[in-house]
Amino acid sequence: MSQDSPDRTAADRTAAERTAADRTSLVTGASRGIGAGIARHLLDRGVRVAGAYRSGRDGVEKLATAHRDRVLPVHLDLGDPDSAVDAVEQVRATWGRLDSLVLNAAVWDGGRLTRMDPDAWWAVVETNLRGTAAVVRAAVPLLQEGNDASIVLVGSVVGHVGFPGDTAYASTKAALVGFARSLAKELAATGVRVNVLAPGFVDTDMTAAVPEGSRATIAEATLLGRFGTVDEIARAAVFLSEDATFCTGTVLAADGGWSL
Ligand SMILES: NC(=O)c1ccc[n+]([C@@H]2O[C@H](COP(=O)([O-])OP(=O)(O)OC[C@H]3O[C@@H](n4cnc5c(N)ncnc54)[C@H](OP(=O)(O)O)[C@@H]3O)[C@@H](O)[C@H]2O)c1
Repeated sequence: MSQDSPDRTAADRTAAERTAADRTSLVTGASRGIGAGIARHLLDRGVRVAGAYRSGRDGVEKLATAHRDRVLPVHLDLGDPDSAVDAVEQVRATWGRLDSLVLNAAVWDGGRLTRMDPDAWWAVVETNLRGTAAVVRAAVPLLQEGNDASIVLVGSVVGHVGFPGDTAYASTKAALVGFARSLAKELAATGVRVNVLAPGFVDTDMTAAVPEGSRATIAEATLLGRFGTVDEIARAAVFLSEDATFCTGTVLAADGGWSL
């Protein structure tokens, strides 16, 4: 179909045309690691990014130096639902629209179930699941005001395959899949797509303490025989957010084949 074809629909617009539509995104956990990578790749596409941080404002400020007027640093703590409401209000006040929500922030804490303190176990669930749901609740009304919005939830391969010591973290990541599929059904009529990105192992602060033995086990289980990079995961997230206009309720594994 040519670009001039009268049959082209809004969904057939090229990536460049979509960017020209002046999209905005709110990325949680944009201060470092995978979230900072996703924010950078969205900015490179021309999308304006509200970079949400909990404690790492400096990380978001760094993005702002390269993309001055297209980055809005916003404080957002998954443990404080009011901060999610405030963050979304700042986006509304600054740009008046929200086209993409990337729910990347999460914590990892682990240990075998029988040895892990029950309060620490629940704290992971509270942060990753309750906190994420609170951000979605705050952002959905603004997302629905547009006609081409997207939500990407960053899950994990361990939500699918499991890993010893990960009962809390993996539970939250598995739950995001059911959450996303239900939300996709709730929001489809308003044009909001909801998808999950499930990365494999990537070297970030979150994985810095993983012992050598476990790293070797993971590399062996990964068909491509190596860990992923922040850029590889970020590109997959941008695909779901910006390009995958006929995908909703899907889970995209970016795990080098670990989950097969
Ligand atoms: N790394 C991996 O191998 C891997 C694999 C699969 C999935 N993932 C998922 O990918 C996402 C990013 O992971 P990562 O490796 O980049 O992690 P990371 O380096 O530990 O970064 C975590 C990010 O989340 C933010 N954050 C943590 N607790 C928060 C809270 N209570 N409220 C708001 N923000 C909070 C941090 O913000 P501040 O710096 O401002 O505190 C930081 O920006 C997570 O969802 C993780 O589960 C990672």
